Amino acid sequence: MSMAVRSGRFVCGSRGALLLLLLILAGSLMILHRVVQSPLLNQYEILQDHLERQQSRNTRSTRTILLWSSFFGDPRWKLSWDTLGPQELRDELGCPVYQCEITNQHDFLPAVELYDAVVFHAAEMFPLLRPVPSQRSRHQAYVFATMESPGETKHRLDDELGFYNLTMTYRLDSDVVWPYGQLLDIETDAVVAPSERPHWRKPPAAFNDSAVWDLWAGKTKTAAWFVSHCETLSKREVLADRLQEFFAIDIYGKCGKLSCARGDPRCEEMLDTDYLFYLAFENSLCDDYVTEKLFDALRRNVIPVVFGGADYSRILPPHSYIDASRFQSVEDLAQHLNFVGGDQEEYVSYFWWRSHYRLASTSPFCDLCARLHAPGFSHKTQSYGDIQSWWFNSCRLESRIRL
Ligand SMILES: *[C@@H]1O[C@H](CO)[C@@H](O)[C@H](O)[C@H]1NC(C)=O
Ligand SMILES: *[C@@H]1O[C@H](CO)[C@@H](O)[C@H](O)[C@H]1NC(C)=O
Repeated sequence: MSMAVRSGRFVCGSRGALLLLLLILAGSLMILHRVVQSPLLNQYEILQDHLERQQSRNTRSTRTILLWSSFFGDPRWKLSWDTLGPQELRDELGCPVYQCEITNQHDFLPAVELYDAVVFHAAEMFPLLRPVPSQRSRHQAYVFATMESPGETKHRLDDELGFYNLTMTYRLDSDVVWPYGQLLDIETDAVVAPSERPHWRKPPAAFNDSAVWDLWAGKTKTAAWFVSHCETLSKREVLADRLQEFFAIDIYGKCGKLSCARGDPRCEEMLDTDYLFYLAFENSLCDDYVTEKLFDALRRNVIPVVFGGADYSRILPPHSYIDASRFQSVEDLAQHLNFVGGDQEEYVSYFWWRSHYRLASTSPFCDLCARLHAPGFSHKTQSYGDIQSWWFNSCRLESRIRL
């Protein structure tokens, strides 16, 4: 009995030693592993590992964008399908970064927290039935999207502080810029404007264009204006009234005596044949805010007279338009228009830019997709604490020209 106990103890002792040895061995292995894996010895390999993982993640995974609300009644936001995949983004929209899905189908993914971005149309109220998503993940971006000016924002933005992560508007300091039109350099095909500091070519000392030269003689009317909002924050109606002291303005639409059916090609053709100037007056004076009417006018053989809050040199080539805000008084502006309209060579020189630039438009969803893929997007968070100030501070009530 006592022998058995002793030998039992002996067995215990030798097992204990073995265990201890194993522990020491395991410990040393761990320390060795630590040393080998230490950033001091191995930073390059750690970095390489990370980048390889990151790269395969970036190229493989698509980001999914949910259009939460509709765009003026259009759930597709003028896209051609309810859901677009990478192939449509690449082939139809021409996006350089196209690994995204865009959908208006709320059940496209099994849970609303799974979308990488959720887009809200800020020019309309939140949908009545489902105003905002019931769940929110801190990895997703809520997008404040609108092409309208702050005066047309149908939201109580002071209730939405800290709500949005990205802005998608015509403003050039938006996260995703959504302009009404763009100018591309014909030679390089690069987008030149709108941008905060475009590099324009210099207008040549002399320029002629036989089409415009020939049209000039038939242009017997000074200015046309198409307008349907008659009382505006910018007081453009006052500017038009004052200009009428110097020459007649043909006002088409609700605010004038003339009418031209929407979509009738004659309405645009007469800008080529009858009119010297086209008034592109904006309804509010806000940074970067110009609307499609300006870009429509650029497609015709007519000089746009612009009035708005934008620095137009960020949007249009020099010597392609006449900016009312550059004049001290309405009289000075009227005199300048008379000079340009009355001098055939001077008039034609405003069309020089067409030999170098062309009009185009790209989808803002391309930029949104690229933004969601940008390195750093997934580990940097941002939100607009006071979206109301960001949005409203870009407008003013006083124009530079004395009215
Ligand atoms: C411009 O071109 C037209 C038509 O080709 C020509 O008749 C006219 O003399 C030219 N004007 C100038 C200033 O060269
Ligand atoms: C978006 O904003 C919310 C609220 O401020 C924040 O919790 C979230 O992390 C932000 N997400 C991103 C992707 O920036």
